[in-house]
Amino acid sequence: MTYGKLRLGVNIDHVATVRNARGGAVPDPVRAALLAEQAGADGITAHLREDRRHIVDADIDGLMAQLKAPLNFEMAATAEMQSIALRHQPHAVCIVPEKREERTTEGGLDVAGHESQLASYIRPLADAGCRVSLFIAADQQQVAAAARIGAPVIELHAGAYADAWAQERWDVRDSELARITDTAAYATTLGLEVHVGHGLTYDSVGPVAALPQVMELNIGHFLIGEAIFRGLGPAIAEMRRLMDAARA
Ligand code: PXP
Repeated sequence: MTYGKLRLGVNIDHVATVRNARGGAVPDPVRAALLAEQAGADGITAHLREDRRHIVDADIDGLMAQLKAPLNFEMAATAEMQSIALRHQPHAVCIVPEKREERTTEGGLDVAGHESQLASYIRPLADAGCRVSLFIAADQQQVAAAARIGAPVIELHAGAYADAWAQERWDVRDSELARITDTAAYATTLGLEVHVGHGLTYDSVGPVAALPQVMELNIGHFLIGEAIFRGLGPAIAEMRRLMDAARA
């Protein structure tokens, strides 16, 4: 089996976090998305959370109107988000679990525990032409459930792997990488496209980018932070370079 080019999805949520800290209009996440496009992002990811703590509805309107790159709309499996997604019909939707009290998306979706609800939830989105992805832990049971309900794409939660890098816990890092590797290989045997995201940095991206089954990485927080020091374009270009080097 041959796999295509590894894509980089740039998540611009935290441009909105900085904007919302003052409640005004700047920095504008749509402007950041357009710059990310120019800097080599293959797509833009934005998570409209139920509490609108970063991205707000008007940002999605702006992204849909102005982006040339595909938008990956991250959303919780709620009726409100489904109707917003159906109104905009973005290129892709990524269904994530969402808890109000969490700082970021802490775990994967329990697809195995909610198969029939999720199957009926994603059907209208797929029928509308959105590429549906499910954000799950690197766990074969969840992968098998995703395949059974007909999701074409899974995104594996890299949080534990990324945390192990940050904490310099190399044994955990290696076991988490092995889990992602094995799960990605298993998912492709079921015909699923595999993405990986959450917490990735310049240090941690290489081993994941090197996995031939992985087709897309979604990276946000680190890039927006790094943009303070290098500028957003150069921060993204360096991530792209590291991904390409690992892939080669
Ligand atoms: N992928 C998914 C599904 C996410 O929920 C997030 C965080 O919003 C990311 C990728 C990006 O994670 P980070 O901002 O830590 O790079």
